[in-house]
Amino acid sequence: MKKIIITVDGPAASGKEKISKYISKKWKLKHLDSGILYRRLAYIILKNRVNIENIDEIKKTLAKNKQISFQKNKKIRTQSISNLASKIAAYNCVRLYINKLQRSFVEKNIYEQGFVIDGRDIGSVVFKNANLKLYIDVNPEIRAKRRYKQLIDSGEKSIYRKILKEIKLRDKKDKSRKNSPLVIPNGAHIIKNDGNFRDTVRKINKLIERI
Ligand code: CDP
Repeated sequence: MKKIIITVDGPAASGKEKISKYISKKWKLKHLDSGILYRRLAYIILKNRVNIENIDEIKKTLAKNKQISFQKNKKIRTQSISNLASKIAAYNCVRLYINKLQRSFVEKNIYEQGFVIDGRDIGSVVFKNANLKLYIDVNPEIRAKRRYKQLIDSGEKSIYRKILKEIKLRDKKDKSRKNSPLVIPNGAHIIKNDGNFRDTVRKINKLIERI
């Protein structure tokens, strides 16, 4: 198979990560979770007490941190980091910085046969020429239940109704922001992921076979 890029966009807790990991394993593609980069940056901002209302302070933080890790970490999965990540993601300078990291990651890993990248703007902005674009769709109640379970399983205290409210708020912020809002990318296949996971990936595998 030629070197390919598959993009997986969708709202919070829609199952993008699980789907991307599945695709990565099955099709031997390198997985990149762009949300990690927003979360890591949010963590750095929180730790350094950067005032996020002050764009100059944010720009200084970006200049100081030329590289950020792509590694997953429990510390960046908390609700407060989710909310902060969504806030800083509205800034154009933050998006340009993270898009550059993603593109250089792909360029540096040229020996890989391809990539599966998940996020909010991957098919619409970062890798517009991807070979296959997926948009994962699930209603907010199901997503809130999933996120609630994830948080409880990871040992965080959590209340379902609060999670639902926060997910709806984050959707609103992600969809209405001026810079790279969450949209269904041109040419994307909409994948409903509210039922059986096996059915979901069966549909996706058929699309990948056609690349
Ligand atoms: O896992 P979940 O879907 O809850 O979130 P995530 O993918 O880890 O992303 C956290 C936040 O980063 C999102 O709410 C977005 O505001 C932002 N994000 C973004 O704007 N663009 C991306 N490509 C990825 C994440």
